[in-house]
Amino acid sequence: MKTAFTLIATAFLTLSANVYADNAGLSLAQKNACMSCHGVDKKIVGPGYTDVAAKYRAELAGVKKPADKKAAELAIENKLVDKVKKGGAGAWGTIPMPPNPQVADADLHTIVKWVLSLK
Ligand code: HEC
Repeated sequence: MKTAFTLIATAFLTLSANVYADNAGLSLAQKNACMSCHGVDKKIVGPGYTDVAAKYRAELAGVKKPADKKAAELAIENKLVDKVKKGGAGAWGTIPMPPNPQVADADLHTIVKWVLSLK
């Protein structure tokens, strides 16, 4: 009985930790006004975040070796953090994203990881 309770409690804590991680990305994106231009699953001025995730997931699908995959994932995360910070156009069309230099690097990594995890 005690074991069952511990298992359930652990499962619950794990679940809420995941939900929290997701919400940390979303709430930072809201706090930093990213969501005025990006919907989670619809285009506003910039692409919907699920489309961004799908695009880079497709890129990663071409990488077969697990070690290369880890490196490729990290390269994509770093590239997108840099892009959001400096702004830019060309990946999704001609409308540019303005630079967002006010957002802390750690927060950008949290947001980008959350974006890339979306399905
Ligand atoms: C004024 C509107 C606007 C705001 C605010 C904005 N974006 Fe963007 N974002 C865009 C546009 C437009 C693009 C497409 C740029 C392109 O085609 O390369 C884009 C692209 C992106 C991409 C994909 C980049 C790529 O190269 O594939 C990510 C990730 C992203 N934005 C995240 C963010 C985050 C995080 C924030 C908040 C810190 C943010 N955006 C704020 C308009 C915006």
